Amino acid sequence: TTTTVPSRSSSAVKSAADVGTAALAWERLAFDFVPTSCYVKSVWRADTNSWSPVEEVHYGPHGEPVMPVHIASTALHYGQSVFEGLKAFACADRHVRLFRPRENAARLERSARRLNMPVVPPELFMEAVQRCVLRNCEYVPPYGAAGAGGSLYVRPLLFGSGGRIGLGPADEYTFLVLVTPVGNYYRGGLAPVTAYITTEYDRAAPRGVGHVKVAGNYAADLKPSMEAKARGYPINLYLDAREQRYVEEFGTSNFAGIRYLDERGDRYVYVTPWSESVLAGITNRTLMELTQLEGMAVEHRPVTLDELGHFDEVFATGTAVVITAVDQVVRGERVIPIGRTTGSGHVGPVAQRLYRQVRAIQTGEAPDPAHWTHLV
Ligand code: COI
Repeated sequence: TTTTVPSRSSSAVKSAADVGTAALAWERLAFDFVPTSCYVKSVWRADTNSWSPVEEVHYGPHGEPVMPVHIASTALHYGQSVFEGLKAFACADRHVRLFRPRENAARLERSARRLNMPVVPPELFMEAVQRCVLRNCEYVPPYGAAGAGGSLYVRPLLFGSGGRIGLGPADEYTFLVLVTPVGNYYRGGLAPVTAYITTEYDRAAPRGVGHVKVAGNYAADLKPSMEAKARGYPINLYLDAREQRYVEEFGTSNFAGIRYLDERGDRYVYVTPWSESVLAGITNRTLMELTQLEGMAVEHRPVTLDELGHFDEVFATGTAVVITAVDQVVRGERVIPIGRTTGSGHVGPVAQRLYRQVRAIQTGEAPDPAHWTHLV
């Protein structure tokens, strides 16, 4: 039910005037898959050791967003699948901007190498992402219309599509990029949540695959995170697998703790765990760099569980959530309060300020001195 359109098709050329013209209720967008008009893909084959030209695959008027796949695919059987997540924003000047896409290309390369997959060259990555956003630009939430959380979420995916029954690399890999318009990841947006420390399971082993964005990390988190949700906690926090002594990361995002250097948090220290099994988050890195650009200190180092209660603010940070404030952390029967406003529903000033700064750069409202945005 899908049709393939050659890559040089001119019929689908779209312009700035098409941005945000899809008939969608933008203000009601959640973080769910909404079909757009096409995805793009490129296929690597062992016999040629090369990637095919990027092609657009249209879902079609009656088409479903489905693709045929070999029933012995190494992604399905052995978990050989890695992905990325980034966002495109409609801006006040009518341009669409991607946020730090080359960082995603670089991380996808690290993920691919760790799972013994062929590397997607950064230029191919950029071409595919750019093309997919352009061809679906009517699905980019219009500037200002989707509340604070609206964007076109871009999901690059690389997986073993060739079939193999014995454990070994596939003879074919597919790199695809799909896009979908999203709102806030959590319904409450920035509003603070209580986090639950997962003590029954580990997320990632030292020297395992926790530091890269492999699909299996998210599979391993599903049961723990669903159990936390069933207990009433929307987000779960993992400790290190070796000692259960250090804070690692939340189920789907990085951990950041803020220590104030004055009463109101105008000056602060940004603390985020370093460990060999923590994912190198691009939003976390952005917040670290923003902090440093303002002349304040970043501590990227092991963070002990005992430190938790000494932070003035704690938040989860990732591309999907941007920032979710955490105002208390539960471990078994114990409640660890965070900051002075714990449990009050109040979002700390540093989380608010960093959130506004990132959004303003992403949507072209603030200067972009470090050249993080990329015009589509
Ligand atoms: C992100 O925070 O961007 C992620 O990759 C999490 C994912 C489960 C949506």
